[in-house]
Amino acid sequence: MKTKITEMFGIEHPIIQGGMHFVGFAELAAAVSEAGGLGIITGLTQRSPADLANEIARCRTLTAKPIGVNLTFLPTVTTPDYPGYIRAIIDGEVKVVETAGNNPQQWLPMLHEAGIKVIHKCTSVRHALKAQSIGCDAISVDGFECAGHPGEDDIPNFILLPRAADELKIPFVASGGMADGRSLVAALALGAEGINMGTRFMATKEAPIHDNVKQAILDASERVVAKEKELGSKITFAGIAEDVVGVYPKIMLEGQMELGAWSCGLVAGLIHDIPSCKELIDRIMREADTIIRDRLARLAG
Ligand SMILES: Cc1cc2nc3c(=O)[nH]c(=O)nc-3n(C[C@H](O)[C@H](O)[C@H](O)COP(=O)(O)O)c2cc1C
Repeated sequence: MKTKITEMFGIEHPIIQGGMHFVGFAELAAAVSEAGGLGIITGLTQRSPADLANEIARCRTLTAKPIGVNLTFLPTVTTPDYPGYIRAIIDGEVKVVETAGNNPQQWLPMLHEAGIKVIHKCTSVRHALKAQSIGCDAISVDGFECAGHPGEDDIPNFILLPRAADELKIPFVASGGMADGRSLVAALALGAEGINMGTRFMATKEAPIHDNVKQAILDASERVVAKEKELGSKITFAGIAEDVVGVYPKIMLEGQMELGAWSCGLVAGLIHDIPSCKELIDRIMREADTIIRDRLARLAG
């Protein structure tokens, strides 16, 4: 399946694995890229630019196919050495960067001069238009279904994607709630050029996270409720700091599920198995093909 996204990133299938803190290590990114999608290493999970350089090199030993790196610009306790991370990305000859969290404008010249395509993750059309105007190459439209930081607009993909299609000139992928061939075909119908998945890729054989995390995703129904709701408007950073600061390594790598907050999307309700990345991606493409050729063709006929 050729789309503007497969062409832009030089990949076989229009499926991207989004950056995921303490999940997006070399093993997962390489497995997704080897399977014909675009695997993304999560930059800030690496403690320093030197560590990121090593992780990129490690990924290169696992796949010769295109890989990407996620750079998340969020308020953090200490500001990361972004120029250093970008240098590691450029020196590692990575050709795609997924930016998220904040306006990436100040980093675009450096990235573009190195021939890197930038896909910016946005939770609103307003931000997507801004990203387009500053020169981003593509957008990951992250609906309210998404895991992680769903923004503050709370617009689900059934509304957000057609709105993006009406407004954007640059290609975009649908992110949030994507799990299977049905998601891919629906995303294409709504105007996207592919899909970005986070949670679905956590429940794969190659995701280098503890089995407890994978099992928690399989056990979750679509009724997962955030702890935030309990605290409501009384929530403060200090009030939840112990639940969120530094807990990711212990949850993701050691499987201590009760230690604090971690992300997964509502899409967990659609996840029932732990295939390899190749089995997953092949299955999605096969299902999408069948839906288009069989069900949709029949309806059109
Ligand atoms: C455990 C986890 C950690 C994540 N960490 C990041 C991150 O560090 N930076 C980022 O841009 N997105 C992050 N995301 C969001 C994903 O890249 C992706 O946009 C999201 O998972 C899509 O929604 P889905 O889970 O329904 O597929 C994370 C998602 C998960 C599940």
